[in-house]
Amino acid sequence: MARPRPASYWEYIRVEDLLHLQNGVAESERELGNDEVRFIVIHQIDELWFKLVLRELVAARDLFARPLVPEDALAGAVASLHRVTVCFELASQHFRLMETMRTQDYLTFRDKLNPASGFQSAQMREIEVLLGLADDERIPFGNESSYLDALKSHDGSPSPALARVLARRQDLPTLKQAVAAWLHRTPIQGSTPDTPGDEAVVADYARQYLAGHEVLYQRALEHAVRVQALAPADRERLEARYRGQLEGARRHLAAEDVAPEQRAFCRRLRVAILFVDSNRTLPLLSWPGQIIDGLIECEQAMLAFRQRHARMVERVIGRRIGTGGSDGVAYLDQTALKYRVFTEIWAARTLLLPPDLCPPVAKATFYGLTATTGGSPAATTGG
Ligand code: HEM
Repeated sequence: MARPRPASYWEYIRVEDLLHLQNGVAESERELGNDEVRFIVIHQIDELWFKLVLRELVAARDLFARPLVPEDALAGAVASLHRVTVCFELASQHFRLMETMRTQDYLTFRDKLNPASGFQSAQMREIEVLLGLADDERIPFGNESSYLDALKSHDGSPSPALARVLARRQDLPTLKQAVAAWLHRTPIQGSTPDTPGDEAVVADYARQYLAGHEVLYQRALEHAVRVQALAPADRERLEARYRGQLEGARRHLAAEDVAPEQRAFCRRLRVAILFVDSNRTLPLLSWPGQIIDGLIECEQAMLAFRQRHARMVERVIGRRIGTGGSDGVAYLDQTALKYRVFTEIWAARTLLLPPDLCPPVAKATFYGLTATTGGSPAATTGG
């Protein structure tokens, strides 16, 4: 077999092709000022980060979509999620360079963009879709009937951007669905969903967790009364707030907020997240614990990207309407506030107990807590 011809740096990286892509809609880059070229370059760099993000998210999703998830593959998924985080952190930093452009400098070429907008970033939409942001969770954009319409060409015909997002919508499961299915299968107190009596084991763990919360709130209330010398009315108000939080925890673990047909799945999922997070020092739960951290970290980095973008936009264009026709900063702030995918994992932050109040683990050896290595009978977690 013929050996491939050795490539030069410029051939392998396609440097010349790359350097010819910064002219926007003009014939030549010479027609553009430095601000506009910088504006295009930063968008292009971010689109390349988005490309890497998509590859890493697909790798993680494919792993969790397997019916059995080998424990030794979880390190790879943790690394993928971490890379997603780093990509969003780097993309956020580019806004510093964007902000070196003053409002009036931007206004010299802004009209050229109209009605183009980052709102038409197909890869950003792909990331959201692949993560699992549902259509009915999206914030109404304003004059667009849907985010998909905004991806059509000006004459309403289909575009490559639209085709990309439509294809991604077919690419199931989403990462959220795949992770939920995997976490749902987590052995809880050594019991798996197909173990006889599993529902009772899960319910008992939830009951013990709530008992821990009662102690926690009692402790917090007593502490507040002791150090703050609260007036009786304030004490009552505080007590009512703690009771409300306890009731919230009960409703959450009973999954009362979800449709009845999804309740059993959701109950086990919620308890499983608490079980993993509370017992991550057990060898078999250590990697699942890191997956939970990785998902939170990666979603947090994406939210920080949205917030950072909004502040940069406010600095450059103030509160004017976006070129894409939205309310601009007000719309962007809404996305930063409301677009959450891993809601179950975020919700568990409110419920986690300090270690001394967590229910004791039954069958600790099941989770690898033995002096000898390989003591765990389970080769896989959650699967
Ligand atoms: C001076 C620079 C920029 C300004 C003034 C700006 C402004 C805006 C505005 C106002 C929107 C809301 C949609 C609209 O009505 O147009 C938007 C959306 C968006 N922009 Fe920017 N942007 C800038 C730079 C960037 C950069 C460098 C990126 C990186 C890729 C970016 C990515 C996005 C994305 C992904 C959206 C969609 C957000 C969503 O719908 O969730 N923008 N931008």
